[in-house]
Amino acid sequence: MQQRVSDKVAVERDGDVLVILIDNPPINAGSLSVRRGILDAIGLLGEDPALRAAVIIGQGTTFIAGSDLREFGKPLEEPQLPAVIRAIETVAKPVVAALHGAALGGGFELALGCDARVAAPGAVVGLPEVTLGMLPGAGGTQRLPRLIGVAPSIKMICAGERIGADKALALGIVDQIAEGDLRAAAVRFAAGLSGKRRVRDIAVPAEAPAAIEQAVQAALKAGRGRPNVRAAIERVQEAASEPIDAALAKERELFQHYRMSDDAAALRHLFFAEREAGKAPDDLAGEARPLRRTAVLGGGTMGAGIAICLAEAGLDVAVIERDDAAVQACQARLRDHWAGRVRAERCSAEQAAAFQARVQAGTDWNALADADLAIEAVFEDLGAKEEVFRKLDALMKPGAILASNTSYLDLDAIAAFTKRPQDVIGLHFFSPAPVMKLLEVVRGARSSGDAIATGLALARRLKKQPVVARNAFGFIGNRIYDAYRRQCEFMLEEGALPQDVDAALEAFGFAMGPFSVADLSGLDIAWRMRQARAPLRDPAARYVRIADRLCEQGRFGKKTGAGWYRHAEGARRGEPDEAVHALIRAESDTKGIVRRAIDADEIVRRALAAIVNEAARLVAEGVAGRASDVDVALVHGYGFPRWVGGPVHWASQRGSEALGRDLDELATKSGAGFVRGDPAALR
Ligand code: NAI
Repeated sequence: MQQRVSDKVAVERDGDVLVILIDNPPINAGSLSVRRGILDAIGLLGEDPALRAAVIIGQGTTFIAGSDLREFGKPLEEPQLPAVIRAIETVAKPVVAALHGAALGGGFELALGCDARVAAPGAVVGLPEVTLGMLPGAGGTQRLPRLIGVAPSIKMICAGERIGADKALALGIVDQIAEGDLRAAAVRFAAGLSGKRRVRDIAVPAEAPAAIEQAVQAALKAGRGRPNVRAAIERVQEAASEPIDAALAKERELFQHYRMSDDAAALRHLFFAEREAGKAPDDLAGEARPLRRTAVLGGGTMGAGIAICLAEAGLDVAVIERDDAAVQACQARLRDHWAGRVRAERCSAEQAAAFQARVQAGTDWNALADADLAIEAVFEDLGAKEEVFRKLDALMKPGAILASNTSYLDLDAIAAFTKRPQDVIGLHFFSPAPVMKLLEVVRGARSSGDAIATGLALARRLKKQPVVARNAFGFIGNRIYDAYRRQCEFMLEEGALPQDVDAALEAFGFAMGPFSVADLSGLDIAWRMRQARAPLRDPAARYVRIADRLCEQGRFGKKTGAGWYRHAEGARRGEPDEAVHALIRAESDTKGIVRRAIDADEIVRRALAAIVNEAARLVAEGVAGRASDVDVALVHGYGFPRWVGGPVHWASQRGSEALGRDLDELATKSGAGFVRGDPAALR
């Protein structure tokens, strides 16, 4: 018979084993009431001589899948998790954690505080705290290394890696995988234990110092050297040398510090922003349509990349190209990709072969007849899009989704080439498609709720981060990026050099500065776009011609050996190029601009202000449904530092007065053509 010990925890006797049931749907988050309930239940276990062991298990679909993130921004109420774990370790009888679904963060730390862990086959465990700007705070950095060693713990903790039951068993994190009923297996396991087997009493296994050093360096690099990452690494390393109680106290102190840090607040903001961004707009309800067969039109850089994403997500893909030579080029791209994955041990040769087998590349448009979704990725030219969409309309079955990967073209114009604009959406992937997480799901004026819901469901299936954008030039990401890049080019004219701008923005945290990005992705695409849009440009607006001059000289970036920088064969980064500096100075002279020194602070301030200004404009225009969508887009598509939370979060931290001054400066220095947005739109 069940007995409640708190509103979120119940207990039940199973013979002489006490089953402690956590009941805090939907994810059994570790809240105050859960902690209290477990503590009381452990008290019961200690007091009742008829009980010899306990099992902690989650009701519903999961163990404790994490803590209530909202609690982390406030003072935590007692009992806190370490006190609950101390009670489990102190009670004289063994306690077994029965894991199904997810045991993450504090949930996993609770399980590590138990005497054994029995897992259902599909269970996953992990410590995501570091990815949220914190570090584990209830023994994760001390108990995990006792089970699996320092180097594997650093890897798992710093990457916030989730590990499945099989691997957890192999590593020694779980003691048994339950075939059949988890609860029954855990109760049997608990009944069979002769006494306590606390993880804290295990010695950290000896490891080669070189292996530890390698794990440390890899984690620092991936974690961009953030202070919480360093702190987590140090704590794990000290598990091998410090007495556990002192180490636990130190870990808790650091956890309390980092959970209140700016990074943690920014990353919590992003966590919620990412979830919001995945939802359909309020005014556009719809049902995702089932997807099985897909088609990609054009197997170039993007088309091949998109086909790879679809195939790796288990979908069949027909790639349709113009001619046999293009088909072969596409097949070579696919082969190279999967050969690289196998070389990097990211998948097995068998998996690679299975992925490859899902993609059929050819020139026969009849392959479209049974496709549920087509994604067009042909040349960025409205005429080319028209030819393709007229054919798609004629050949695809009713109810199929017709999507375009266009970067800048008018989606409504594309939809108008068909008799089914309700089924037309934009699916704007980023390059390289298999790597970049952002997927802009573009809503045309007539896109149906079903079509948008299908795009969002596809994003989830491809493990991409969707953001819904309305149809407008550059959608959300490229439009903001254009404003940012333009501001950076203004600074070149006024006195900075490409390497100054890149260095300042990389020091701020961007994965790469704008001129290095341009060299990597190629200057010619943007050049062609500028040429096409030249007639629309306000002749009075300030226009920087430097990039056009580079393109006129055939300097398209890395692929031509020269762009904003000079690129030596095989070198990772470009070298500053005096020829480019001379060209920049000449442009300043032609415009009569007296060059001046521009420091890193001004570069960052103006670049960020340009981003925030454009964000305010497009939120006010409704291109982005929520201000936080801009943060999600910039972080996942443009290398904006995650730990800053995105430009809108940055602006909220900067405060309205300073931001107002930034925008005044921007307006003065940008000159003619600058349109000021109202940051109030971002609140
Ligand atoms: P690409 O030039 O590498 O590939 C285009 C492919 O389409 C070529 O292989 C070509 O043979 C094929 N093609 C052209 N007309 C065709 C037709 N009528 N039927 C079948 N195949 C045809 O171009 P890329 O870079 O892959 O761009 C494709 C689209 O993706 C463009 O709309 C572009 O704006 C967009 N895009 C590009 C990004 C990039 O970084 N390259 C990023 C995001 C979107």
